[in-house]
Amino acid sequence: MEYKTIDYPFSVGEVPADKETVLSVRNLAISFKTEQGYVHAVRGVSFDLYKEETLCIVGESGSGKSVTNKTIMGILPRNAHIDSGSVVYEGEDLTKVSEDEFHRIRGAKIGMIFQDPLSSLNPIMKIGKQITEEMIINGDHMKNYYDSLINDEFIAYKNQVRLREINRSECKHSIKVIKGEIKKLKKAKQNDEIPAKLEQIASIKAETSRKDVELSAKLKELRVALAAKSKEARKLVKAKRKEIKGRHNVNLKSLLGEKMPARKKWAKFVEEHRRYVGELRVTHKEAKERALKVMAEVGIPNPEVRFNQYPFEFSGGMRQRIVIAIALTAEPDVLICDEPTTALDVTIQAQILELINRLKATHHMSVIFITHDLGVVANMADRVAVMYAGKIVEYGTAADVFYSPAHPYTWALLSSIPDVDSKEELEAIPGTPPNMLFPPKGDAFADRSKYAMSVDYKKEPPMFEISPTHYAATWLLDSRAPKAEMPRIVSTRIANSLKKAKEAKHE
Ligand SMILES: Nc1ncnc2c1ncn2[C@@H]1O[C@H](COP(=O)(O)OP(=O)(O)OP(=O)(O)O)[C@@H](O)[C@H]1O
Ligand SMILES: [Mg+2]
Repeated sequence: MEYKTIDYPFSVGEVPADKETVLSVRNLAISFKTEQGYVHAVRGVSFDLYKEETLCIVGESGSGKSVTNKTIMGILPRNAHIDSGSVVYEGEDLTKVSEDEFHRIRGAKIGMIFQDPLSSLNPIMKIGKQITEEMIINGDHMKNYYDSLINDEFIAYKNQVRLREINRSECKHSIKVIKGEIKKLKKAKQNDEIPAKLEQIASIKAETSRKDVELSAKLKELRVALAAKSKEARKLVKAKRKEIKGRHNVNLKSLLGEKMPARKKWAKFVEEHRRYVGELRVTHKEAKERALKVMAEVGIPNPEVRFNQYPFEFSGGMRQRIVIAIALTAEPDVLICDEPTTALDVTIQAQILELINRLKATHHMSVIFITHDLGVVANMADRVAVMYAGKIVEYGTAADVFYSPAHPYTWALLSSIPDVDSKEELEAIPGTPPNMLFPPKGDAFADRSKYAMSVDYKKEPPMFEISPTHYAATWLLDSRAPKAEMPRIVSTRIANSLKKAKEAKHE
């Protein structure tokens, strides 16, 4: 059978008519500068996250799962460099927005929970305070009103600042690379090739400054627009404050005039004051009420008592529930879970997975679930992306990946899932992942795969489109390749689970 192939950077299929994309990652490449050289951690990753689905990213340690998601969250370490690609969320490329803007998006719309809940909790702060803190910080209604008024102009301005920065830093980066090449040429005594390189540097510099002038002019325009909008917004906020205060004064006055016992009147004054403050910001009382509600929702018994306890008084599973509660208070659209259950024992793990599944449905969230264990995600993934050595090597619906896996690496992952029923011997994946300082030339998995052919050591496989939902990057799918069967342990398991599913249907 001949499949359509897609070269890197590949787009990842048409979005089905009944799906809506929330987040699009395209051709993302990230490297880290280290003393040994550049670590190519992510090498051209593309995927879509659909609304209200769970996309699972699976792969061994070091395959680039966390780095990909840290890019989405804007929390890459300082030695990281975005070599290429985009992360588009609500029409904006998150790799290009400024820190401030990112913080707003991150906190409010994209939430993340990590493997080790202790590291994201403050050990010396009561749980309740940790849950309410963000709500109170972000709960200044007047500031939020002001921010919403200037939002579009602010984003446009900040994006432009960032574009100018990118233009400048890309120039620096390219020149550095060329200078490195010149050094090598000098060493190899190939001096005649140097003038061309110097010319290249000059033309990069010229192009950068030409673009810089353009970008700066536009930046000036945007700055003026932002200043005008801010002035207008300040006026509107002032008017709103005045209106709220005015209403408060009217209420106080009419209370003063009313005849009632002093104690009752005092209570009414307090009530009016609370109402007034509540119009200006999220009050501690409001935040606490909401925190207790969320704590109950994530399954923490006795939230009233637990509210005043410290992280060490909670078990691992309960701590992870707290972290989920904190993420939930911001009502995110997208929840990224980076191995949230790895540190937990199996029963607790199942409970947390169930909780994430339930919250996804009730809060209409889209979830990116990262794990090294395909077995964990069988019951929660809508779609699966299998990552190896910084690339997605197989991508499809859960049924595609679990029932008709096509990449030898996916086969290897599937054979290493412990099978509770058959008590079969586990097949560990032989060898170790490649050193990403020197990514292999062809199929990165070839060294560890008994299916490797000579082409695998020479040429990177393209993505083969097995179906409109299912893609895999392996030369085995090429029409010239000899027919290869998946390992028996995998095909037997698939047959068994299909049989079980069928029986369950008939029951
Ligand atoms: N700050 C850094 N400096 C240098 N290299 C880094 C840095 N952070 C990550 N890397 C490298 O990037 C690669 C991908 O790392 P990443 O954390 O994304 O792996 P992962 O798939 O999440 O693995 P794990 O299952 O262990 O969490 C690894 O080779 C790692 O060593
Ligand atoms: Mg990780």
